[in-house]
Amino acid sequence: MHNKTYICDLKDHVDKEVTLFGWLYRGRSSGKVLFLVVRAGTGLCQCVVEKGQIPDELFKELKRLGQESSLSITGTVRAEDRSVGGYELAATGAEVVCQTNDYPITPKEHGVDFLLKHRHLHLRSQRQWCIGRVRHTVIDAIRRFFNDDGFTLIDTPIFTAIAGEGEQTLFKVDYFGEPLHLAQTGQLYLESAAMSFGKVYCFGPTFRAEKSKTRRHLTEFWMVEPEVAYIDLAGLLELAENFVSFIAEQVLKNNRSELETLGSDIEALEKLKPPFYRLSYTEAVDILTSEKTKKFMTEEFCGFQKDKEQAEAKLAELEKQQSAGGKKWKMEKIAKEITELRAELGELEVKIENNPRHAQLAADFRWGKDLGGSDETIISLMYDKPVFVTHYPKEAKAFYMKTYQGNDKVVENFDMLAPSGFGEIIGGSVREDDHDTLLAKINDQGYEAENYQWYLDLRKYGSVPHGGFGLGVERTVAWLTGEKHIRQCIAFPRMMDKVYI
Ligand code: 4AD
Ligand code: MG
Repeated sequence: MHNKTYICDLKDHVDKEVTLFGWLYRGRSSGKVLFLVVRAGTGLCQCVVEKGQIPDELFKELKRLGQESSLSITGTVRAEDRSVGGYELAATGAEVVCQTNDYPITPKEHGVDFLLKHRHLHLRSQRQWCIGRVRHTVIDAIRRFFNDDGFTLIDTPIFTAIAGEGEQTLFKVDYFGEPLHLAQTGQLYLESAAMSFGKVYCFGPTFRAEKSKTRRHLTEFWMVEPEVAYIDLAGLLELAENFVSFIAEQVLKNNRSELETLGSDIEALEKLKPPFYRLSYTEAVDILTSEKTKKFMTEEFCGFQKDKEQAEAKLAELEKQQSAGGKKWKMEKIAKEITELRAELGELEVKIENNPRHAQLAADFRWGKDLGGSDETIISLMYDKPVFVTHYPKEAKAFYMKTYQGNDKVVENFDMLAPSGFGEIIGGSVREDDHDTLLAKINDQGYEAENYQWYLDLRKYGSVPHGGFGLGVERTVAWLTGEKHIRQCIAFPRMMDKVYI
């Protein structure tokens, strides 16, 4: 379609005639004028169709057009501050491509299950569109950051014989009669490549048979993993904070309007400059078990209850307005607000129910355990920028992490917790580079040392201090956009309990 104009380019065509090719997002009529909001890949644009400006038959056809009908529409571009996107089209012609009736996703309320079953259509919603655009920028920024910093991309295999992150989350596959599994991490292969290229990264889908249905877990997610030869823990933290700041900066630069639509905390993202906070695991445990945390959790509980009361009062008021009836557009607006309020109330109820349990878990936390989701939430709630938690107990972490020289009970690792309660987005470490120590750890885990022979070789031939980390794309997108559940941050999510489409 040679004369196709994209909505993002309307600014260059003010007072000129253009043709948009898209879908009807919503339409309303006020007798002699139709207001058609058209969705066309790069945004929304209101098209104003006046009776008399186009043939009567076409006017009638457009008036009857259902949501998500596809059409092309020609008209003159006008700057209009009050319109979505800042421009409007004064229509002079249109062509219906596919008339749609009964589009299953309407402006009224739909449950999560319904929307996931209709994901192939729900991707067209404004929210999913905005998240998809932010994800695109995040992925572009990831590649740009490493490519511009002298890293070489290494594609690591998906079929593998070795476990990186614990055998309980392996997806087994029958590989021509051989038992193999899907990669949980590309890290072990990357360590080999780092000894050739110095600075490397891999980026791809990662598979974990996670038995948890939390908002933080998918069974298939995307992870980027850099690995660097000759680096220590301090160097890794610096790389990680520069990396995450760069991603946030790119998203702010390219997706400000998407962030606004999604209601993300833009101000917080603007403050995201290195250095991030640094905390040892032992300090984190002290925080969890402190009086201050106990008080904080009680205050949080009261806050949730107050918010709940306010939301309930507002809901009652809106329901009253709804039953009084009124104009269609007003009723749709109220219906939308009610949907949002109900969702908010649902979340508050979950928080109110979980708070005492999380408070108890924190108070009872004992040194030696890995931090759980609720512990990470509590710690990250106390910071306005991401926080590094370093030096976890050896027993709680993966076999390849290097034992800390200063205290052999802990390893030289870190997690980066995104602030405001979000929790872990990065896990990383310095790697064990001593052959015999590593062999002992492999044996301790009960792994087949034979499968790890090549990995052990790296500690025989020119072993050097090295390390890296992994950042989960969906968690990063969820944090940046303020999305609660990471399943909304990948187009077709894979979860433990269900694969919808
Ligand atoms: O902390 P993890 O397990 O670390 C590794 O896999 C290391 N091999 C990385 C490395 O050092 N090269 O995972 C890293 C990140 C987590 O912080 C999280 O963001 C994401 O991957 N992640 C998941 N995201 C979604 N669903 C899951 N089930 C995830 N498991 C980990
Ligand atoms: Mg981790």
